[in-house]
Amino acid sequence: MASTILSGRGYDAERMIKPAVRSMPAYQREEAPAPRPTREIRLDWNESAYGPSPKARAAIAAFDGFHRYPPIDAAPLREALGHYIGAPAETVICGAGLDDVLNTLAMTLLEPGDRVLISEPTFGVYRPLFSGHGAEVVDVPLAPGWALDPEALLSAADDRTKLIVVCNPNNPTGTLFDPAAVERVCAEAPCIVAIDEAYAEFAGVAHLPLMDRYPNVMILRTMSKFAGLAGMRIGYGVFPESLVGYALRVMPAFANVGAAAAAAAIASLDDLPYLDGVIARIVTDREELASRLREIPGVEPVESATNFLLVRLPVDNAGPIVAELGRRGVFVRHFGRPDLGLRPYLRVSVGTPEENAIFAAELEAILGEAAA
Ligand SMILES: Cc1ncc(COP(=O)(O)O)c(C=O)c1O
Repeated sequence: MASTILSGRGYDAERMIKPAVRSMPAYQREEAPAPRPTREIRLDWNESAYGPSPKARAAIAAFDGFHRYPPIDAAPLREALGHYIGAPAETVICGAGLDDVLNTLAMTLLEPGDRVLISEPTFGVYRPLFSGHGAEVVDVPLAPGWALDPEALLSAADDRTKLIVVCNPNNPTGTLFDPAAVERVCAEAPCIVAIDEAYAEFAGVAHLPLMDRYPNVMILRTMSKFAGLAGMRIGYGVFPESLVGYALRVMPAFANVGAAAAAAAIASLDDLPYLDGVIARIVTDREELASRLREIPGVEPVESATNFLLVRLPVDNAGPIVAELGRRGVFVRHFGRPDLGLRPYLRVSVGTPEENAIFAAELEAILGEAAA
C-alpha cells in the first residue's frame, strides 16, 4: 500500500510553536572544523582535565542499578549536596546540570513579559533559556574592568523584573566581583537574586551566608567543573524556603538525574581531599599558564578566579586565530558578538600542563606567523 502523507487540513507547524520559542535566540554551538584534526585538545568548555575522583570512578564501575528508577526526589543526592554546601537538604533542588536547574527556576518564576536582568558579557545560556520562557532578558552590562554595576542593576529592576542573575566568578571573563556590590544587589533588589557559583570552588568564595540575611537570594552550583562530572550532568541550587516548595512541584519526580550520575556525585562528595588537590593543581597551572602567555608579545591574560583564562590577543578579532588553533587540534572559545566587547579575546580552559604548553606554543606560533 502506498504511504499517504496526511495534509492535516490547515496544519501549520510554525503555529504550533510557542511564540517565545520562535523568537528565542539560539545558544551558539561551535562545531569542530572539518576535516577533523588528528589531535584534539579540548580547552573550550571549562571542563576538568582530570575527570572524576577515584571514588566516583569506582562508584560508576560498581553501579548496578540501571533497571531501577533513582530514589524519588533524588533524596540521597540532595542530602549529600546539602551536607557539602552547608544547607538543609530540603532546600536543595538538583537537575541534569545547572542548565536544567536554571530551567526549573524559569518554570517556577517566569511568564511571558516578565523581565530577567543579566550582566553581559556573561554565561551564554541565560539569554536563550529565559527568553524561551517568554521573559524579556535585559542586559545591564558590566562596568569597565568587568565589574558588577549594582546601581545600574537596581535602577533597571522594575515591577516586571522577577530575577537578577549574578554570575560570580563570571564566565567568560573569569573575574570575581566586589563582595559589597554583590551584597548591595541582594539587599536592595525587589526580586529574586540568583548567584551562579559554577566556579566557586576555584575562587574559594561562597555566597551562601547571604541567604541568611536576604530572603530573595539563591545559590546555583554544578558538579561539572571542580568534580569533573560534566558528562554526568549534575547541577543544583539552594533555593529560598519561600520558593522551594514550588520548585519541587516543577522539578520532575526523579529530578532529571540518572541513578549512576547520582551515585558518582555522592561518591565524589566523599572524596573531597582528592578534589581539593585537583582544584589546587588547576589554580597553580592557571597561574603558570598566565605567566607563560604574558611572555608572548601583546598577549594579556585577565586575572581569573576560575578554571579558565580570558586572554587578550594583539589583534582586533581573535576569531581567525581561534579557528587556526582548531585546525591544529587545540579548541578554545571566541565570543564574536560585537556588543560583548570580546572580539580581541579568546577563552581557554586550564588543561593538563602538557595541554597548556601545547596551546601556548601553538598560539605563539600562529601570532608569529600572522606578524611575519
Ligand atoms: C556560569 C555557568 N553556569 C552554569 C553552567 C552550566 O553547568 P552545567 O554543566 O552544570 O549545566 C556553566 C557551564 O559552563 C557555567 O559556566
